[in-house]
Amino acid sequence: MRIQVTVDEAMQDYVASISLREPDVLRDLRKKTSELPLALMQISPEQGQFLALLVKAIGARRALEIGVFTGYSLLSTAMALPAGGRVVGLDISEEWTSIAREFAGRAGVAEKIELRVGDARQSLAALMRENGSAGSFDFVFIDADKENYAAYYEAALELLRPGGLIVVDNVLWHGAVLDEAQQDSETTALRAFNAKVRDDKRVVLSVVPFADGLTFALKR
Ligand SMILES: C[S@@+](CC[C@H](N)C(=O)[O-])C[C@H]1O[C@@H](n2cnc3c(N)ncnc32)[C@H](O)[C@@H]1O
Repeated sequence: MRIQVTVDEAMQDYVASISLREPDVLRDLRKKTSELPLALMQISPEQGQFLALLVKAIGARRALEIGVFTGYSLLSTAMALPAGGRVVGLDISEEWTSIAREFAGRAGVAEKIELRVGDARQSLAALMRENGSAGSFDFVFIDADKENYAAYYEAALELLRPGGLIVVDNVLWHGAVLDEAQQDSETTALRAFNAKVRDDKRVVLSVVPFADGLTFALKR
């Protein structure tokens, strides 16, 4: 028998009540994002706080985010970085990243953020060509289009230093990965991605059923 607590809404509220320390600027960003039709794409405040803890725990100075949306995870990361730290954020949407820019200014972390708007595969290819980029990042958060997760993961491994950490969001895809009737491109890409990482000896691996499922892959 396994001990496994049921995380229903009441338990989520309890966990928030004993742990959440959301800065006002992130609460304001969440409120602003909630007015958008795709607000559900935003990570939860608990997840943002968790990312911030990881950034601090590994002493990250150089971070990369693939999938910024309105900036909740990007700002959580930037605010956790030390003075002089930097996070490069990649997203295809000018409209959504303009909100991230606005709130980065309000949070006082604009100088820690470098936003690159365009298709992430192209932005990553350009980043990898830049002198000194390969092997220079400490932390990568992947949260963009699911069909390209494998490509983002390979780029992340090239850009990370040994001991650097990749965090991947949505790997359990609201449970759809378990349902064979679900054969859409996102679900099948996530199943293939999960199997790929399971067999990847280049990383130390953990998959945690928190939020929509998170993969942690530490580059050896
Ligand atoms: C789930 S949202 C990211 C949520 C964000 N991490 C947060 O904390 O709010 C996914 C983002 O990926 C972006 N995206 C989708 N396809 C992309 C692509 N091919 N290149 C770059 N960004 C892409 C979308 O514009 C969207 O903002």
